Amino acid sequence: MFRHLREDIACILERDPAARNGFEVLTCYPGLHALFLHRLAHALWIWRLFWLARWMSHWGRFLTGIEIHPGAVLGRRVFIDHGFGVVIGETAEVGDDCTIYQGVTLGGTSLNGGKRHPTLERDVVVGAGAKILGPFTVGAGARIGSNAVVVRAVPAGATAVGIPARVLHDESDKRREAHAARMGFSAYALGQSLDDPLAIALHSLIDHAAEQGEQIEQILAALDKLGARPSEASHGHGFDARKLNELLDG
Ligand SMILES: CC(C)(COP(=O)(O)OP(=O)(O)OC[C@H]1O[C@@H](n2cnc3c(N)ncnc32)[C@H](O)[C@@H]1OP(=O)(O)O)[C@@H](O)C(=O)NCCC(=O)NCCS
Repeated sequence: MFRHLREDIACILERDPAARNGFEVLTCYPGLHALFLHRLAHALWIWRLFWLARWMSHWGRFLTGIEIHPGAVLGRRVFIDHGFGVVIGETAEVGDDCTIYQGVTLGGTSLNGGKRHPTLERDVVVGAGAKILGPFTVGAGARIGSNAVVVRAVPAGATAVGIPARVLHDESDKRREAHAARMGFSAYALGQSLDDPLAIALHSLIDHAAEQGEQIEQILAALDKLGARPSEASHGHGFDARKLNELLDG
């Protein structure tokens, strides 16, 4: 318990430029107090002392303004900064090294029992006021913009903003756009919505075509080295992106 406290203090000193020293962090950071009380409450919950666990969690909320259900599973070095108004639901899981700002809700959208709150993998940052609602996963290293409302999974390393949250371009998007541009085809003209089945299908097709293109280039380079590159005539017809565009427009 106290080893965890020491590493919690160290991680706050590391992540909050306003934190001056360990004593200040120990005495003036409600996020730290909430985590300490949550660990006690969670232990009581595991020992099936449910009322006592809820009562402990209630005191945590009373003292810090941060409500963490005793059933929630929080990893190590989680930093709840400022923290007022944070609500973390019963079946939520928060991975190691996550940072959560004030006003964040890790909530559910269903009244049924079972897993109904989100899972944050390690190193996720959730901006002030963001709501993450539902039993999906926010991938490792993802960043959720302040006041975003996230209602579906966010890939690892991505940044999601807005209501409902949309994923800003990540590395795979940039690669895909570069491949698509080489083929004279604008992937983003079709919309980036993670919901749109047409956009998803076309993104997969572009990825597949680009992957095959790269493989063919590698094969041709190898044949070149062997002095056995086939003549231009035997290449057949390549991918005609313009035709695809025309078909879609029509
Ligand atoms: C989401 C976030 C991590 C993005 O940071 P970033 O990668 O540096 O992104 P940028 O600032 O370059 O913005 C990228 C785009 O997202 C938009 N954007 C950024 N944050 C946004 C937000 N919270 N809501 C809606 N749109 C947002 C920007 O306007 C920009 O749009 P554009 O490309 O159309 O111009 C950051 O803006 C954020 O919200 N961090 C949380 C900080 C916080 O809560 N601090 C509390 C301290 S008490």
